[in-house]
Amino acid sequence: MRRISETPRIVVRDVRKEFKLRHTHSIKETALAAVRRKPLTTQFRALDGVSFEIAEGEAVALLGFNGSGKSTMLKLISGVLTPDSGSILTRGRVAGLIEVGAGFHPDLSGRENIYLNAAILGMSKKEIDARFESIVDFSEIERFIDTEVKHYSSGMFLRLAFSVAIHTEVDVLLIDEILSVGDEPFQKKCLTRIRELHAEGKTLVVVSHDLDMVSKLCDRGVLLRDGKVLFDGPSTQAVEVMRT
Ligand SMILES: Nc1ncnc2c1ncn2[C@@H]1O[C@H](COP(=O)(O)OP(=O)(O)OP(=O)(O)O)[C@@H](O)[C@H]1O
Ligand SMILES: [Mg+2]
Repeated sequence: MRRISETPRIVVRDVRKEFKLRHTHSIKETALAAVRRKPLTTQFRALDGVSFEIAEGEAVALLGFNGSGKSTMLKLISGVLTPDSGSILTRGRVAGLIEVGAGFHPDLSGRENIYLNAAILGMSKKEIDARFESIVDFSEIERFIDTEVKHYSSGMFLRLAFSVAIHTEVDVLLIDEILSVGDEPFQKKCLTRIRELHAEGKTLVVVSHDLDMVSKLCDRGVLLRDGKVLFDGPSTQAVEVMRT
């Protein structure tokens, strides 16, 4: 078995994250609510005291039903969101494939977006030049590389984003569901590449509703329910707990 180093890559300590839920729609409703002193918003706790550590080289499935807080957790780890309380520490370069099209500029071409996206992920122009062809090859969208990405389909976005991410020197890769918009051959190709990255010692955090796939890919599963960790252990067991 591959040795997992004990040095943590991600440390999440007692993290809370709340969102405001709006209750009014029209001006009239807003005015009425003000007169009646009814609150216009209520706080909603998406993550409620979540703690876990992920060691270097681990592959962890983040599991849970719709709305349980998985995407919010990944956004906190990637730094897109900040917690209301608690702390999140990461070590090394973190690349997130979290939302289809995030990190892309709609008015720029695929080619220009490769440079933009790769620069955001910490690559120099020289590094990108050297890997450009390989990035385009993996994505298989060469014909459309000079088209503005606002005309891309979801699958084409995914192809470009995934391809850029796996060509950067990442230590931690966060993947949220987005593989599901890829067609079957591309999904297979991505999974093969993800397994290779894991074998090379990269740390993975994967969110997917394809429970069979993630429990095969990841040894460990962290199950969220209503913003709390309900189970943290072997992924096959996490899936069982989820299904009960
Ligand atoms: N920006 C926001 N404003 C208000 N509420 C939000 C915001 N982002 C997330 N939420 C709420 O937080 C809860 C958790 O959302 P999150 O996207 O993390 O769930 P998830 O586990 O990824 O679900 P899914 O499986 O459907 O992707 C949901 O109830 C959602 O409505
Ligand atoms: Mg989600």
